[in-house]
Amino acid sequence: MSAAHRRTPPPPLCRRAGCTRRVRQEAQDAAVQALLQALQLKDPYTRAHSERVGALAALIAAELGGSGPGTAAVRLGGLLHDVGKLAVPADVLCKDGPLTDDERRLVQAHPADGDGVLRAIPVLAEARAAVLHHHERLDGTGYPGGLGGARIPEAARIVAVADAFDAMTTTRSYSRARPAPAALAELRRCAGSQFDPAMVEALERALAAVRWRTPDAAPCGETAVAEGPLLAPPLLPPLAGAGAHGATWAWLDAGAKGKEVG
Ligand SMILES: [Fe+2]
Repeated sequence: MSAAHRRTPPPPLCRRAGCTRRVRQEAQDAAVQALLQALQLKDPYTRAHSERVGALAALIAAELGGSGPGTAAVRLGGLLHDVGKLAVPADVLCKDGPLTDDERRLVQAHPADGDGVLRAIPVLAEARAAVLHHHERLDGTGYPGGLGGARIPEAARIVAVADAFDAMTTTRSYSRARPAPAALAELRRCAGSQFDPAMVEALERALAAVRWRTPDAAPCGETAVAEGPLLAPPLLPPLAGAGAHGATWAWLDAGAKGKEVG
């Protein structure tokens, strides 16, 4: 056998802690990328929404500092919070009228379905609490667990606020975007019943320190136009040709006050 045909010996096993961390990070990024790609194929709005919620949740976590859960884990939870919507039929996901009881049941299964997806991917385990509980309410009337107050994992309380802010400031098939101040006022109104007031306050402080730009209106099934500098540092690069109109990262002017997310 010629040298060219000899088999390349396998690389030495990675035993150093730094190497293990890098391999784990690469596996985590690849898994997130694959799930976001699947969401992109299902509904570009949900994929773009997920990226913004990940960024907003990371801003809140960073604002809470050492008293809150880790920024990276919270960002992961935000990125993946709606991954269970892969199981919701597209015509239900994008319906612009009221949902039937059966359709509502399908939609409300998405936190548990998302948790089920992540259970099968150990490198994404730290996102599971936020995914499973991001529709709980502080007064205990949310779903799927009906948890209340501090029984709701902190990461889920953060993602709930980020999710609601983004939902209110973007146009969906059934509602038009509100300006950010109006969305913050609504979050304040619901603080203590639906949302954790500490998370609402942290979002307000975070948004006062950076220039957050809500994306242009885009109906369900399309991706909003996004302009400006990329969110820094992006956990994941935008997918080439993502969405009907262009890239998906760009809702934070990262230069503002030099604040870094993640
Ligand atoms: Fe959700």
